Amino acid sequence: GTVVLAYSGGLDTSVAIRWIKEKYDLDVIAVTIDVGNDRDLESIAERARKTGAVKAMIIDGKTDFVRYFVWPALQAGAIYEGQYPLATALARPLIARLLVEVARQEGAVAVAHGCTGKGNDQVRFDVSINTLAPDLKIIAPVREWSMTRDNEIAYAAEHNIPITVTNASPYSFDQNLWGRSAECGVLEDPWAEPPEEVYGWTANPDSVGHLEPTYVEITFKHGIPVALNGEEIEGHTLIETLNHEAGKYGIGRIDHVENRLVGIKSREIYEAPAATVLHAAHNALETLTLSRDQVRFKESVAGEYARLIYNGQWYSALHQDLAAYVQSTQRFVSGTIRVKLSQGRCAIVGRKSEHSLYSHGLATYDSGDQFDHNAALGFIKLWALPLSTQAQAQLLPSVG
Ligand code: ARG
Ligand code: SIN
Repeated sequence: GTVVLAYSGGLDTSVAIRWIKEKYDLDVIAVTIDVGNDRDLESIAERARKTGAVKAMIIDGKTDFVRYFVWPALQAGAIYEGQYPLATALARPLIARLLVEVARQEGAVAVAHGCTGKGNDQVRFDVSINTLAPDLKIIAPVREWSMTRDNEIAYAAEHNIPITVTNASPYSFDQNLWGRSAECGVLEDPWAEPPEEVYGWTANPDSVGHLEPTYVEITFKHGIPVALNGEEIEGHTLIETLNHEAGKYGIGRIDHVENRLVGIKSREIYEAPAATVLHAAHNALETLTLSRDQVRFKESVAGEYARLIYNGQWYSALHQDLAAYVQSTQRFVSGTIRVKLSQGRCAIVGRKSEHSLYSHGLATYDSGDQFDHNAALGFIKLWALPLSTQAQAQLLPSVG
């Protein structure tokens, strides 16, 4: 039989190739999915073969990731617990889908991933795989074996498994186009300030005071970014560019003690420069193009949307329902937002849209004012009516 393993090239999944063969006597097909992880994928595939995989495949998932996962999450305003733009969480259902696709093509009986038994990622993979392909067995070596990191390194040495020096890092990293996640080591002490070495995408905001601010203009069509500084641009290129540009200013560092689905709190350091800028810009465009009631209702949907992504419920009917609502809200979310990048900060400094609900005639305090001041009197009278009625009938205290 054959198993399709989501292979990252790191210590865990390298050891897993041999361990699965020994424990389950299954041939391992290693699949490395590129969601913008920015690594040398050919050499990772080569390492999989050297480690004993019968086949090593590389799948470019960047376009699908942006189109079907990142943009819908941006349109929804999905940010977990007000802080985490969900980079890791969004990639999991895509990786699960691709694993299932390869398993079908190859006639595999199982799929495998390198998640631990105490995280969110195992839930996201397992729930997605069970939903898409309930007949496939799931093998999670790291959850099943009881090896420490040192045991794994010894196991690798014993079995001639090539591992790289980066495996010596005390941190666990996961990265894709939408962000970079870091945990473990000293980060497990929530009182400890993260050492600079944790950061890979962003400059220290305290050290970039000498940089002149930069302005970027982001154009959205139906809530999706389509142009940068007036030039049409491919989604993943836009995200890469913004990660780089905003990262230079130290924008997008997030230090989050989060609530995992499995009930524990964990401290994660995120870097998400592009996600930070794009969420701010998208939100600014919605303030211009959505009504007060739409904005208010959409905020509660955003919270639900973020939670379902975080909690591994991507392939759910609830998601389909919320996605349909979000798409409807984006009909007029088209226009351009001007963002100023400076020391650790991204500020919205300009916004325009053909569908703007902002009316200068109604808003101005100068001549040209079209607002009916007299109508305000009648409006206030009716607005106050239930309050004054109740205050008299029930003798509510007027102050304090
Ligand atoms: N806590 C984040 C999540 O659940 C990221 C998980 C992976 N993090 C890592 N450093 N390997 O989405
Ligand atoms: C893991 O435990 O596998 C990574 C962290 C997480 O899934 O939350």
